[in-house]
Amino acid sequence: MNESKKSLTAEEEALFNKWLQQKKDFAENSIKECLEQVYPEKKAIHDVMNYAMYNGGKRLRPILVFEGAEIAGMELQKAVPAACALEMIHCYSLVHDDLPAMDDDDYRRGKLSCHKAFGEDMAILAGDALLTGAFEVLAGAICYNDLERTRLLRVIGEIALAAGSNGMISGQVLDLKSEDQNINQADLREIHELKTGRLFVASLRAGAILGGLDAESLEELTLYAENFGLAFQITDDILDVIGNEQDMGKPIGSDEKSHKATYPGLFGMEKAQEMARESVINCIDNLRGFGTKADFLRYLAYYLLGRSN
Ligand code: IPE
Ligand code: IPE
Ligand code: MG
Ligand code: MG
Ligand code: MG
Repeated sequence: MNESKKSLTAEEEALFNKWLQQKKDFAENSIKECLEQVYPEKKAIHDVMNYAMYNGGKRLRPILVFEGAEIAGMELQKAVPAACALEMIHCYSLVHDDLPAMDDDDYRRGKLSCHKAFGEDMAILAGDALLTGAFEVLAGAICYNDLERTRLLRVIGEIALAAGSNGMISGQVLDLKSEDQNINQADLREIHELKTGRLFVASLRAGAILGGLDAESLEELTLYAENFGLAFQITDDILDVIGNEQDMGKPIGSDEKSHKATYPGLFGMEKAQEMARESVINCIDNLRGFGTKADFLRYLAYYLLGRSN
């Protein structure tokens, strides 16, 4: 597939959808197996954590972890702990994001939000447990040799940085503080980069670092993931306006209800769609040196423009 393409043909799209489903199934099964090993004994909170984890997510972050590993030439099984940890952090962030004190949304992935199903107290605790559990999974991983263990330490640090007060949390803080405010393009870009982009970057890098990818290629994948994160959140903002509630599995109009700063809000729908397209093109541009082994990443970037959930 070449970098200058503007969109996928129907045939390419059908092929890609099959490919994506296979990768999603692999991610889903790997996460399940990993968590069953880490939590063999069932506690009450595990029901709440499972509700938050196994409910129809797209699994894009673990898919990116595996993609990074594959590009680096590593056995996929060795990327399972990082894939599982990143999805746990993502799911925790959604549980807390939906709380009344934050976005106050009652539905997520087509079901009641965690706090609606189990109460705010259990939702907060399940989120805490998923975040802590992510590092439990990473620190307890036993599938590595000495060299890989050194890389794992670097990955743990990067994931913590991406999820913490210098990353996603700061993005969520700025997102909440932007409600009812007039903010400019640079501020909005920063919110999207932090609250959404950082976890995507950490995901693709995690697999690539564990697999020992060279520094130059790692930098190119990082630029891909930064633009991917931006395009992803612009399309999330767009779908919050023109999406279908059934497909999305979460309320449409939530951003407007909370007077959030969004791309369609700041630039209008047409320009926001144009900006999403630009980010996708910028994204794919960074894959020039990778040949066919980055084809899935190329298709995945285009898929953002047509996604309905
Ligand atoms: C939703 O992420 C939260 C954002 C960062 C916009 P996803 O759209 O990836 O959520 P799931 O995991 O597929 O439900
Ligand atoms: C959420 O952004 C980002 C994180 C959870 C870190 P949004 O608030 O836009 O996500 P949705 O639309 O509720 O999924
Ligand atoms: Mg939010
Ligand atoms: Mg939200
Ligand atoms: Mg949103």
